[in-house]
This record gives sequence, structure tokens and C-alpha cells, in this order.
Amino acid sequence: MIRINHNYLKLRASYLFADIARRLEAYQVQHPGKEIIRMGIGDVTRALPAACIDALHGAVDEMARDSTFRGYGPEQGYRFLREKIAQHDFKDRGAQVEADEIFVSDSAKCDTGNIQEIFATDIRVAVPDPVYPVYVDTNVMAGRTGVFQDARYQNLVYLECNAENHFVPQLPAEPVNLIYLCFPNNPTGATITKEQLRLWVDYARHHKALILYDAAYEAFIRDDRLPRSIYEVEGARDVAIEFRSFSKTAGFTGMRCAFTVVPASCKAYTAEGKPVAIRDLWNRRHTTKFNGVSYPVQRAAEAVYTAEGMAQVKALTDYYLHNAAFIRQAFTDLGYACVGGENSPYIWVNTRSDSWAFFDRLLEKAGVVCTPGAGFGKCGQGYIRLSAFNNFENVQKAMDRIRSALI
Ligand code: MLT
Repeated sequence: MIRINHNYLKLRASYLFADIARRLEAYQVQHPGKEIIRMGIGDVTRALPAACIDALHGAVDEMARDSTFRGYGPEQGYRFLREKIAQHDFKDRGAQVEADEIFVSDSAKCDTGNIQEIFATDIRVAVPDPVYPVYVDTNVMAGRTGVFQDARYQNLVYLECNAENHFVPQLPAEPVNLIYLCFPNNPTGATITKEQLRLWVDYARHHKALILYDAAYEAFIRDDRLPRSIYEVEGARDVAIEFRSFSKTAGFTGMRCAFTVVPASCKAYTAEGKPVAIRDLWNRRHTTKFNGVSYPVQRAAEAVYTAEGMAQVKALTDYYLHNAAFIRQAFTDLGYACVGGENSPYIWVNTRSDSWAFFDRLLEKAGVVCTPGAGFGKCGQGYIRLSAFNNFENVQKAMDRIRSALI
């Protein structure tokens, strides 16, 4: 008899964004022809930077000639890309990260989901609430949680993020071994200061814990005082893994390219307390289960680090930030308290009502799709998340319709 992993039965029926897509499809069947503006899932809408397109064309031409054709590449990513990442994203900002500590992959979603595989099942895991659902669901699948009850999984430590703590979690009251942090935050758009991050690094060092730091949205930081990488904090190299992505930075959601930094000195421990280099374990996993990102896509990602590429990425992220400011202002003018949208493409709106009811209201009255905050956790109840990834004309139209719907 073939038996299933019973932990899958603990999961809620579907992944949040799949659930929203299903509801939207059902709505559209009933209202054919109604124009819907999607501000739910954070999917980019603007064309790739020209520097990336040129690099892609060049790489495709190389693949067309026997003399320059490439087959399997290194699973960890080509050196040309890893070196550029180490230099521009880290060393230039005073963070010590070497090329051989970088693992190129197809997505931060996959990496943040897969990394937990290399840790014991009986560790104590802390996640923020509200939270990007991937962190939670992958730990459920791995059997680290109990059942889902009262909007939470048993055995997980939830770090509450709310208006009182400015959506930055406080250190847990009980010891935890694995901590997920995400800044600029998905879904709230909140940011963390270097001093606040230092508290977490010190905590992890003291408890021999590990921080999984998701920095997929760092390209949206405009406030120079904010850290872009956890490695800007002294001592973080021993206790933190960082995840980055080209998806939101350079419009790669359809291209697929991201990377994970696992510093050589970052350790986890055997049951006897013997330290083991996490980089070796992640390398083992990566080389066994992953065959690398395609050569043309890695060349396109490399182009992000040219002078033109950097300017084009800046223009792209500025564009979305302009949308974000517009959305935030529109909701503020309507009397709703908002977070995010300043160093982040997400705006977190306090609806003072049920999240899903507000979702339905926006869909039915304004033809706008948002993400209900409750889908990100118990503390998300009452909020919605709006994504600024759209064309400005659509954002303007959406805000006009929302104004008419809500006034
Ligand atoms: C989101 O909307 O939260 C993101 O697009 C999801 C993701 O990057 O996987």
C-alpha cells in the first residue's frame, strides 16, 4: 500500500495565491467582460531592462553555435554571476560575502521553502505573523508542526507583528532554533533598522540559532540608513542565511533567477553538539536536487550589474515605488491607516473590517483584486495587502474606482 506523507493532510486546502486565483476565476465566470485590475500577487508587469535583453540575445546566439554552446552549467551558478553578486550586492556595501558562498537558483520561494530540509524535524521554528505562507507550509510538510487550529499551526512559535511594534517582531519569550525574518517585509512592507536586526543576530549567536533572512525586496529600499543585507550586521555571517531574487528587482518573475548566501562560517549542530558547515550541506542538497539556472538567464542576471543595468533597475523599481506612494496616499486620504509602500512595493492597509469581506467588497464594487491579510496569518486579520506591481494607468484607475466604492 502506497502511503502518503500524513503532514500534507494538515495543510489548508490550497496555497493562498492559488486560492485567490480560484476565487477570481469563479467571479469572472459569473461576470464575463468585467475588467479586473490585479493588485493581489506581487507579479511584475514592466518589460525586462534593456541591458538584460541584450545579454539574453547574446547568450542565445552563443547557444546557436557549436563553438560557444553550453550544456549543463555548475549547479551553484556560473562564476561570472556569483562574482558580480558578491562584489556589487555585498562587498561594495561593506558586507563580507565571497562568490563561493553564493548559490544561484531559480527562485527565493523554492530556496526559502527547501532550506528547512537540512535541519532536524524536532527543532523549534519561529515565524512572523503575518508571514509569507511558504515558510509555514514547508515546515508543515516536513512534520515540524501540529494541526491547524484557531488560525495557527500548533508547535510553531508565532512572532506577532502589529501596529504596536511597527510590524517588527520582538525576540521570542521561549528559545527557538530557526527564525524566519523578511525585510522589507512581505506582506506588510515594514522595514527593520540595523539596531533592531542586531538584536536578532545577538539572539541567534547566544542561542546557537539560525536566521533565515529573506531580502527579496531589498532593491526597493531608498532610505540609506536601512540595512540591505543582514551581513551588514557584525557577527551575522555565523548565524544567518540570506535569500535574494531578481524577480522583483529586475522583473524576472517569468525568467526565474535568484540566489541564496550561505557563509562558510555559518554552522548548525549534530545532536552531540558538533558544529557542521551549513554551506556543505546546502551544496550537497543543491547539487543533488538542482541542475542550475539556464545560461542565457544567468547572463541576463549578470547584466543587472552593468552601469546601464543598474540604472535601468533603479528606474524600474522607482516606477513601482511611485505606484506604491500613490496607493498609500489614496488609502490614507480615505482615512485608512497604512504601512509600507515607502521602501517596499507592498502597502498594508488596516481595513477595520474582516479581510476577506473587504477583499470581496473591492472585487465586487471596484473590480480590484487585493490579498486579504488574514491569508498571511492571524495577525493579518483586518488588513489587506496591495501590490504596486502594475502600470501607473491601472493604479490610477484602480484608486479612482476604490474611492467611488468606499466613499
Ligand atoms: C507575493 O505576492 O507575495 C509574491 O509574489 C509571492 C512570491 O514571490 O512567491
